[in-house]
Amino acid sequence: MIKEKIYYDSDADLSILKNLTVGVIGYGIQGRAQALNLRDSKINILVANRSDHYLDSVIADGIEPVPFEDLANKSDIIMMLIPDQAHQEVVENHLQKHFRKGQMLVVAHGYSLTFKKFKIPNDIDVTLLAPRMPGLQIRREFLNDHGVPAFVDVIQNFSGKALEKVLALGKAIGFTRAGLLHVNYKDETELDLFCEQYLVANIVKTIKESFEELVHKYHYPPVATLMELYASAELGEVLIEAANVGIGEVFQKNASPTCQFGIAEYYERAMTKPVHESIKEVIHGLKTGQFDNSLDKEGEKNYEKVNALWNMVNSAPLTETQKWIGTHFKKKNNHE
Ligand SMILES: NC(=O)c1ccc[n+]([C@@H]2O[C@H](COP(=O)([O-])OP(=O)(O)OC[C@H]3O[C@@H](n4cnc5c(N)ncnc54)[C@H](OP(=O)(O)O)[C@@H]3O)[C@@H](O)[C@H]2O)c1
Repeated sequence: MIKEKIYYDSDADLSILKNLTVGVIGYGIQGRAQALNLRDSKINILVANRSDHYLDSVIADGIEPVPFEDLANKSDIIMMLIPDQAHQEVVENHLQKHFRKGQMLVVAHGYSLTFKKFKIPNDIDVTLLAPRMPGLQIRREFLNDHGVPAFVDVIQNFSGKALEKVLALGKAIGFTRAGLLHVNYKDETELDLFCEQYLVANIVKTIKESFEELVHKYHYPPVATLMELYASAELGEVLIEAANVGIGEVFQKNASPTCQFGIAEYYERAMTKPVHESIKEVIHGLKTGQFDNSLDKEGEKNYEKVNALWNMVNSAPLTETQKWIGTHFKKKNNHE
């Protein structure tokens, strides 16, 4: 039984932000989208950015930028929407001296807090509001009357109102339209880093090395190879659908028996050998007709191996979690 806390629009009250000023530091991928959504939700915002190229887009959006120190002095809530590696420098050089009792600092990723990059005064609130999408989608979904999911945590609650304030911010940006999940900031940080370092690194390496082996060693045409690997966007679409229905069901419902058998045939061997050896094995199976023979035999056995794979996946722990996600995060045109 999954017991996780998820917040929706009805859990958040924008009125708590009514007389407060929200200072947004940074106007990049997250900063611009979140600042514009806050402004459209009638929240009083200030934006600070270095005299650098992003400053032009602040001005182009009709916002009068302020110096960091002014933002620190005038804001009740400070959202740090700059790269994690810049948090320490910006806090130490521009914020530390100006923090005042009861202010709230918000980060969009727990990295600098987890790795203790700067000192936090005891008399401020500190919260996490971490989107699960880049700024483009945050802005686009908001304008489409929807929102993207995000994670929320209260790290320090000096005012006793930190949760109410961060939920209201989440509502103003659109996160509570999709679902704002409570996640401890250290878990958010480590999970995010794990996915980048393990999952994404494996995907990038598999694609790059497959391309090079297939084109240079096996002489497949480069354009067709890359289209097949990912450039047609088929893989991307499959993963989007998997986010909706689950990693097993997406293949069971949409993939041919040949595709499903290919997955089942190689599942156990996946990631057990260097990429070039695995590729060699798969190509050998195709060129010699071995895969074709195995597929014929699998058909005669009523797709025994395929059924066993999906039974295993569909009864694995991730399936219960997938169902929870499917019923708790709100999809487009399905929110309150
Ligand atoms: N990107 C995502 O999809 C995503 C998703 C979830 C969470 N997050 C989190 O959101 C936060 C912001 O990430 P982002 O992707 O939006 O970053 P970003 O687009 O790379 O941030 C660029 C902004 O930061 C400013 N900036 C860069 N270095 C700076 C420095 N040393 N001092 C002051 N300002 C500096 C830039 O201004 P100038 O260069 O013009 O000075 C610009 O306004 C991070 O904590 C990140 O982990 C990002």
